[in-house]
Order: sequence, then structure tokens, then C-alpha cells
Amino acid sequence: MSVHINATKGQVAESVLMPGDPLRAKFIAEHYLTEVEQYNAVRNMFGYTGLYKGQRVSVQGSGMGIPSIMIYAKELYTEFGAERIIRIGSAGGMQENVKVRDIVLAQGATTDSSIFNNIFHNQVTFAPIASFNLLDKAYHLAKDRGVGVHVGNVLSSDRFYNAELDKKKLMDYGMLCVEMEAAGLYALAAQHKKEALAILTISDHLLTGEETTAQEREQTFNDMMEIALETVRA
Ligand code: ADE
Repeated sequence: MSVHINATKGQVAESVLMPGDPLRAKFIAEHYLTEVEQYNAVRNMFGYTGLYKGQRVSVQGSGMGIPSIMIYAKELYTEFGAERIIRIGSAGGMQENVKVRDIVLAQGATTDSSIFNNIFHNQVTFAPIASFNLLDKAYHLAKDRGVGVHVGNVLSSDRFYNAELDKKKLMDYGMLCVEMEAAGLYALAAQHKKEALAILTISDHLLTGEETTAQEREQTFNDMMEIALETVRA
């Protein structure tokens, strides 16, 4: 077991889907996987491994924010043999053409978090990027399903309530949406020579104030989950 994951090596699959909410991890395991084994319940941050169309996949809650996802992703990559992690989460739209219910594949993740100053001591401005392999697969799967899909830079905000941040400038520089974890996940993948991708559905919009209903969130969440599951199977 690691500090936060009460599993033995071998209980976690090489491909891991990571929703923020551990109850979503439970939902995915119960609805999409067969032969499911729960390997973690520490802090109720549930983790499961099962089969998706015959292939082993794990689903692990990440919690909210860069510090939390970096705990679980680090332990999965370095102690349990995870090779690829796909974050599946929600995000707030930041461009007019990025509509509520659309899917965004985070090609890059800009952040106001101090993690990169902490790592690189301000010598460079590190550009956290997705695995091209996963991005390419997910993009074509999303296109084939006919869902609205965008690929580009996302904002991994350190705070959900962040009125001080100049989001208008970030919109001018093409930021597609705001979420809270991708940059941390991408940093770890780079450090440990692993793969990572964040697949996001737009649940609310910063320009229009629009929000999705619970039912709409469920449908778009299903699209995102199926794209993520097929991406690791492909
Ligand atoms: N996740 C979903 N919507 C968000 C928002 N508006 N800001 C940060 N994270 C989010």
C-alpha cells in the first residue's frame, strides 16, 4: 500500500480513469466494468479495477484541485504501475464557440498554481501538455460520435473562487475553459515518463452564466466516459 491508496501492486490496471468525485468512480465501475474489485477506500477516495470489453481498467477518484490529484496520480504512476491516466471532469467554458455540453480535450494546461515555480525555480515557464497518443485517439473517437469537441489550452485554476485572476486576458489568449487539475496531472506524467490526458465536459459558462441540468450532465458525462474508456482500449 502507498500513503493514500490501500492496494497491493497488481490490483491497479495500467490504464486509469480519474474523475474528481469518488462517487463517480463508483458509478463508472458499477455501470461500465465487469468483474469489479474495489482496491481503495482510504478517505473515501474510492478506487476500482475491472474489465471494460475484456480489458483491465481502473477508476480512481482524484479529489478536487492540483494538490489532491497530484497525490493520487503520483502514487498510481510510481507505486502501482499505472502507465496512463485520463482525467474525466467538468469545466467552465471560456470561449463563445465552446458551448455548454461540449467536450474539451486539454492539449495544454496553463496554471496560476505555484507548482512549476516550485519545481523549476522560475528558470523556465514549463508548458504542461497532454500525451499526443491519447489526445489523437480521444479526438477521433469524439469526432466519430458526432459530439462537439475542442482541442487546445485550458486553465487549471488553483482556486474555484478566483475573482482576482484576469480571465478576460486568458480568454483573449484562447483559453478554452477552466478546471482545476490537468496541469498537475500533466506535470507528473512528464516527470515519470507516463501518459496523461484530461477530457472535460463544459458544465457551466463564464461568458453566458449558463449551467447544465443534472440530467444533461449525466448524458454528457456518459459521452466523456465512453470516449475515455475507448481511448484506453484503442
Ligand atoms: N469545473 C467546472 N466548472 C468550473 C469552473 N467554473 N471553474 C473551475 N472549475 C470548474
